[in-house]
Amino acid sequence: MTSGSRIAIFGATSDIAAAYARRSAEGKARLALFARDAAALDALKADLVVRGAAEVQTFAADFTDFSALPGLARTALTALGGLDVALVAYGSLPDQKTLNTDPAALRAALDLNFTSPAMLANLLAEGLEPARAGAIAVITSVAGDRGRQSNYGYGAAKGGLQTFLDGLRHRLAPAGVHVLDIRPGFVATKMTAHLPQGGPLWAMPDKVATDIAGALRKRSAVLYTPWFWWGIMTIIRAVPRAVFHRTKL
Ligand SMILES: NC(=O)c1ccc[n+]([C@@H]2O[C@H](COP(=O)([O-])OP(=O)(O)OC[C@H]3O[C@@H](n4cnc5c(N)ncnc54)[C@H](OP(=O)(O)O)[C@@H]3O)[C@@H](O)[C@H]2O)c1
Repeated sequence: MTSGSRIAIFGATSDIAAAYARRSAEGKARLALFARDAAALDALKADLVVRGAAEVQTFAADFTDFSALPGLARTALTALGGLDVALVAYGSLPDQKTLNTDPAALRAALDLNFTSPAMLANLLAEGLEPARAGAIAVITSVAGDRGRQSNYGYGAAKGGLQTFLDGLRHRLAPAGVHVLDIRPGFVATKMTAHLPQGGPLWAMPDKVATDIAGALRKRSAVLYTPWFWWGIMTIIRAVPRAVFHRTKL
């Protein structure tokens, strides 16, 4: 990321997004941060300024208020006088057992993890396509690669988002706008705090942030982070259904 890069982050208080913001601040980026928790945004801003950010603007935002999304996209596209990178990072990991019996909870999970980021990505595209520049980076998940009994509500939202980004990338290719689909494996963050974190499959947010910066630099289409998840998911996708159904994955 070059000094003075203009970066908007949606869900900036996410541990992964905050790690990316810190990295960008150290590279003297200009940042527009969006999240629902205004106090947490203020604390993040203070830290980023100390780390060297050239500019930090904050905006309190409710990403499940769909009517607010066009205004948020407009703000992101204009607040820094243009946009080099938009990182869409918000999401939640719902309990699949709850989703199995509670249709409202299923809808809320799909709204937050699919509908909202898909709408936002499209709104950002409206601004970046005519500018013929910029990158839209969205955090999906390896969970989107194959439906599993233990988390198919979340997985379906992320898988849908992967397909949406594939199409958006196709649409924006002639304009030269980069679309990056970020697929982390297990990352030690607030979202996974209820799980036993640690072991060789778990990564820290800083590692994921470094990989995101690298994928943006290389203009990759899809990033598995850490890299070995590409191999794991290739195998998981290839397991025949009859065998898969005997697992508890
Ligand atoms: N951690 C993992 O293992 C993992 C793996 C694959 C993909 N991901 C994806 O990575 C992204 C970042 O997650 P993370 O791991 O960094 O977790 P995190 O620290 O819990 O961040 C989640 C972010 O989403 C926001 N958020 C959650 N529910 C919201 C709601 N109802 N309305 C508005 N904002 C809401 C949170 O806001 P608050 O800070 O206010 O709570 C926070 O900014 C997510 O898209 C997640 O699905 C994570």
